[in-house]
Amino acid sequence: MNNFEYQNPTKILFGKNQIENLSKEIPSNTKVLMLYGGGSIKKNGIYEQVLNALEGFEVVEFGGIPANPEYAVLMEALELIKKENIGFLLAVGGGSVIDGTKFLASAALFKGETPWDILTQNIRTTKGMPFGTVLTLPATGSEMNSGAVITRQETKEKLAMGGPGLFPQFSVLDPTVIQSIPERQLANGITDAFTHVLEQYMTYPIDALLQDRISESILQTLIEIAPKIIKDPSNYKAASDFMWSCTMALNGLIQKGVPTDWLVHAIGHELTALYGIDHARTLAVIAPSHYKYNFEAKKEKLAQYAARVWNITEGSVEEKAQEAIVKTELFFNSLGINTKLSDYTKDYQGTAEEIAKRFTARGWNGLGEHKNLTPTDVEKIVKMSY
Ligand code: NZQ
Ligand code: ZN
Repeated sequence: MNNFEYQNPTKILFGKNQIENLSKEIPSNTKVLMLYGGGSIKKNGIYEQVLNALEGFEVVEFGGIPANPEYAVLMEALELIKKENIGFLLAVGGGSVIDGTKFLASAALFKGETPWDILTQNIRTTKGMPFGTVLTLPATGSEMNSGAVITRQETKEKLAMGGPGLFPQFSVLDPTVIQSIPERQLANGITDAFTHVLEQYMTYPIDALLQDRISESILQTLIEIAPKIIKDPSNYKAASDFMWSCTMALNGLIQKGVPTDWLVHAIGHELTALYGIDHARTLAVIAPSHYKYNFEAKKEKLAQYAARVWNITEGSVEEKAQEAIVKTELFFNSLGINTKLSDYTKDYQGTAEEIAKRFTARGWNGLGEHKNLTPTDVEKIVKMSY
């Protein structure tokens, strides 16, 4: 196991009716900006629950943060924060609303020329405005980590940011919110969380027995609850395991002391930026090609995953590893998720070259867990996914 430091300050309020306890987590006499997305919270009752819980606070609202939170929209919210002298941000939504709120928490205190620099110049946020979240869609883990991904349609870019100043102070995880999530988003959530684990696990063995087994447990849990939650999102037992698995998949714990990859995400973000494909679906497109292309480097972990997660015990390391890739793809397919780029766009020719060009322009070399993959490798991986 490698050396590591681990600190996660986010307080989790998990379970039924936890939204009621919100007000205890926000300093009194603070003006709160409640941020939300396209309006799902107004149809499923979460909006009223949150407003009721905030009784006694002065609350300003900002709705309309789109999926893949858009910079131009967030800049309007930033003006509101300054104009209204807001003291606390409350994100009520999925990864997009939470990420948008993290951007605002950072941008509100940013002293540079334009907040877009935070993203293009990789400026880490050591101090941000205080914020909390009410999670409405399990998927990203954003509710308990300090990262965010922001989109700018004007330039077709999707870039990541983060830093220790961007952990939520608290997050409310009430599994009953899952009832109203459409099937497409449930499938996305399962696929995103599953891939988060793979990014931190599918590298090479490093004798971190516990991290491996925690990762494998999250994968097994997601596989077990997936058909149940798709069939009946009001199944509270399955919803609880789904929600907590998604949080645990990306709250920093399983990546400690082990090598990580994250190239599937880096490429996937480009596919969303270029074609607007749902985040999780871009991962399902890239992961199988990535594992096939980097088979030699990853085969031992692939075989371990085959045996422990998919019960594939027969055959050589290579055979088990191959079978694991097939199983992974079939799992995504079982959720109704296609795994070829051509399933999502007819315009895919030239995509690989465009992504490689962008990576080159950003100086993104030395990618993957061995830091040996180049934009040329990325081009080949993307072509394999057509
Ligand atoms: O906008 P509303 O109307 O609320 O509807 C949303 C949205 O259309 C809907 N939804 C959310 N909760 C619901 C619901 N519908 C019914 N009932 C509910 N309870 O679901 C749609 C998708 O929401 P979104 O927040 O976009 O989904 P998700 O949570 O998958 O977030 C995706 C974003 O997070 C980023 C992605 O790149 C993408 O921009 N990620 C953030 C990460 C992080 N911060 O750590 C890591 C991830 O890898 C990912 O990159
Ligand atoms: Zn993701």
